[in-house]
Amino acid sequence: MPRRLLVLGSTGSIGTQALDVVSRTDDLEIVGLSAARSWEPLIEQATRHGVRRIAIADPDAAARAAEAWTDGEVLTGAEGLVQLVLESGADLVLNALVGSAGLGPTVAALGEGIDLALANKESLVVGGELVTQLAEATGARLLPVDSEHAALHHLLHGVPTGALERMTITASGGPFRGRTHAELSDVTVAEALDHPTWSMGGKITIDSATLMNKGLEVMEAHHLFGVPYDRIDVVVHPQSIVHALVETADGAQLAHLGLPDMRIAIAYALHHPEIVSLPTKRLNLAEVGSLTFEPVDDDAFPCLGLCRQAALAGGTAPCVLNAANEVAVHAFMEGRLAFTGIGDVIAATLHEMPGGPVRAFESLFEADRAARELASEQVAVRA
Ligand SMILES: NC(=O)c1ccc[n+]([C@@H]2O[C@H](COP(=O)([O-])OP(=O)(O)OC[C@H]3O[C@@H](n4cnc5c(N)ncnc54)[C@H](OP(=O)(O)O)[C@@H]3O)[C@@H](O)[C@H]2O)c1
Repeated sequence: MPRRLLVLGSTGSIGTQALDVVSRTDDLEIVGLSAARSWEPLIEQATRHGVRRIAIADPDAAARAAEAWTDGEVLTGAEGLVQLVLESGADLVLNALVGSAGLGPTVAALGEGIDLALANKESLVVGGELVTQLAEATGARLLPVDSEHAALHHLLHGVPTGALERMTITASGGPFRGRTHAELSDVTVAEALDHPTWSMGGKITIDSATLMNKGLEVMEAHHLFGVPYDRIDVVVHPQSIVHALVETADGAQLAHLGLPDMRIAIAYALHHPEIVSLPTKRLNLAEVGSLTFEPVDDDAFPCLGLCRQAALAGGTAPCVLNAANEVAVHAFMEGRLAFTGIGDVIAATLHEMPGGPVRAFESLFEADRAARELASEQVAVRA
């Protein structure tokens, strides 16, 4: 019997690559798909995969889809997404939404004890301990869909309990590696979207250019693997071939290597614990010639430091940081904020709203809302 898979965010970069991975196997059957607005590609996907239920966040796009597609049911809004999780009968949910909009479906899947392949790192950054505690309580597996974290998950199988000393995730450095803070003040959106090694959705590509993505990934690693922050390192590695390393108590380091291709991380999570064959380009180290590594320039790229600051503050601070980043990235992409303004808006929002205790998911939804308001004001004063 194939496992029943629900793909949230199926029209995005991770979503479309996941459908490519699924189409190469008989082990997975798609039982639901979702998008924010892209209703036409979503209907094409549903038709191709014989899916009868889809969710579209935007009500207008959902109404147009319901008019055009009579082969199944169209759910809508954030509630529609959660309903799809609760009622699709999935054995596994892939959450490939972008931003904190992914938290609701993450909580819904884990709360029902459904295994979760998680690309939406923002869920873990925002939800932190509550999300991991929920998975523990229901016994649902939390499988990372991020190249560094899938690599760490894989590597940790070779490390006996208690022998792990440190872990390192690599960063390509993005398109602006080597520039000073001053040289970043007038970079354009097109330049920021021109990632040197990975082809990804817009928001994560900007997060990679600011190095915010690496800060979010440090928090993701902390929550996934229960490793303290002072034992999670970041190193810049422009070739994006070494994805992560673990260091054991004897001083040895194990590394995970491969040419950049997200289908490896996606297939790892969807098929875990099996490793399936993929038509990926194979790594030939002699052809690559050299791999280089350098420290992060914290002055030019303050977002990584802001992430560590929010992570150590804990409580709602990571949620505030994430919301401010989403608002600032959106404003940058619309030409309302300078690239260097992204870090400034996050720092100012965190300063005004340093975070409080998290008692329940409601505290997070409220902190997210309040932080978005503050961050929008911060964007406006810089316009
Ligand atoms: N792309 C990568 O290589 C990569 C690597 C590692 C981790 N990730 C993580 O994976 C997640 C997805 O990234 P991506 O690059 O695939 O993003 P993306 O290309 O922008 O796709 C996002 C998907 O989510 C849908 N969506 C966006 N906002 C939504 C909302 N508010 N409610 C419901 N659906 C919404 C989009 O629908 P529409 O098509 O209608 O807009 C699309 O299907 C992010 O958390 C990212 O950090 C991505």
